[in-house]
Amino acid sequence: MKRVITFGTFDIFHVGHINILERAKALGDYLIVGVSSDALNMSKKGRNPVYSEADRVKIISSLRCVDEVFIEHSLELKGEYITTHKADLLVMGDDWAGRFDEFKSLCDVQYLTRTPSISTTEIIEVVRNPLSQ
Ligand code: CTP
Repeated sequence: MKRVITFGTFDIFHVGHINILERAKALGDYLIVGVSSDALNMSKKGRNPVYSEADRVKIISSLRCVDEVFIEHSLELKGEYITTHKADLLVMGDDWAGRFDEFKSLCDVQYLTRTPSISTTEIIEVVRNPLSQ
């Protein structure tokens, strides 16, 4: 049984998120998702997520392609999360290309092409300023 792990904030869930999760699952048998905590998102992206970590975990847990969800509290713990969850493969979007190569000693690492033209940041912009479209 091949275990796949991926990480992300998954705020304002959109089609780019489901695309990467379905593709990650298709690369193995069991998909584990680390959802960034509110505090981690603040430190990574400089803003509070629109949806709370509890709501983001609930949404991700409800997906057919997802088998297990946990909250990622720190970027520094990535190696430990990979080991604890016995992951065989780490999947990330290619906005992170090369940045997780250090974990190749723990598991395979694969970067998948992002879905074009959609991101949480863009959705927030459009909702905030609809005339900019
Ligand atoms: N992702 C993707 N295609 C998109 C947007 C996101 O494949 N169009 C992937 C990212 O590469 C990552 C995962 O979805 O592996 C979670 O990304 P996240 O940062 O939560 O979503 P973004 O929409 O990129 O958020 P933001 O705009 O806040 O950076």
